Amino acid sequence: MGSIPITRSIIPNPVPAEEGSDSPQISDLSALGEWFSRLVIEWQRRHGRHDLPWQQSRDPYLIWVSEVMLQQTQVSAVIPFFERFIGRFPDVGALASADTDEVMRHWSGLGYYARARNLHRASRQIRETFEGRFPGTSAQLATLAGVGRSTAAAIAVFAFGERAAILDGNVKRVLARSFAVEGWPGERHVEKRLWSLAESLLPSDAGIVSYTQGLMDLGSMLCVRGAPRCAQCPVADGCVARATSQTTRYPAARPRVDRPRRRASFLVIRAADEVLLERRPPQGIWGGLWSLPQCDGDAAIEEVCRERFGVCVRGVRQLSSFEHGFTHFTLEITPWVVEVEPAAVMVFEGDVGWW
Ligand code: ADE
Repeated sequence: MGSIPITRSIIPNPVPAEEGSDSPQISDLSALGEWFSRLVIEWQRRHGRHDLPWQQSRDPYLIWVSEVMLQQTQVSAVIPFFERFIGRFPDVGALASADTDEVMRHWSGLGYYARARNLHRASRQIRETFEGRFPGTSAQLATLAGVGRSTAAAIAVFAFGERAAILDGNVKRVLARSFAVEGWPGERHVEKRLWSLAESLLPSDAGIVSYTQGLMDLGSMLCVRGAPRCAQCPVADGCVARATSQTTRYPAARPRVDRPRRRASFLVIRAADEVLLERRPPQGIWGGLWSLPQCDGDAAIEEVCRERFGVCVRGVRQLSSFEHGFTHFTLEITPWVVEVEPAAVMVFEGDVGWW
């Protein structure tokens, strides 16, 4: 059955049905959901991904770690980190008893470090609040640090077969295009509409695992941001964005705002073979991570080095500046290489500086 179930009544922003079209006007969401989910399931079974490391098990711990790693990172980048992380922390107990620095070290390079801190915090929540047993429903999973509604649902689907809807960035794009949902998905009312669609489209009986994986696979393999591969898409016949040649219009982009700019200097302080690292304060960007010492972009470098680190500066060299974009501001970073007298380097107490 390949008929087109586009209908005014289920599409949030209706487009007129094509004149002369013989597609049935399905007016209730459950019929549309059955059509949509069945095709996604069939496509996933034939063309979707089945060999990812976290798909080889239904252990909720492994699935949880993978879903958190996949929150802002692509599959290919996640795989080696996932394997290394699981090798060192094979179960939730091992993670809960590890020290934070070791957890962060195993996350180093993956980015968005709040995810690692939350993962570690949540492992202790499981040990203490859930007596070491992994929460068994999406509602309980959503109480864990760093686990939002969509991640909780994905874990519950893959580990327990729960009938729950996901809505990550890829799925938002698939649904926004299929049903021509106007507006930027970061806005509450748009997100609410997408959640309601996601819930309505769930398969009524079997196939929730393939369906959920299928939506993820569609979003990352075919319904991609730039040029979607509609010719291969199982639900292209029902896609409003495609029918109206507007795939690039959905989902709407985040409204442009000029982010404020900040300037900072990063210091590569070298004493012979050693480089000085500093632990950042727990709050703020890169909170608690070891990094190159940072100072204000206008600060006098030699003075900062002398006063803050008690070093005797032999030479200072400026490197090219670059930018790093955060959600709320853009940081212009100027690195400086500072050569200091090895004999006079400071010994740091506790956990502040590290050569
Ligand atoms: N993105 C988020 N979760 C995923 C998963 N389980 N498989 C592939 N991509 C994903």
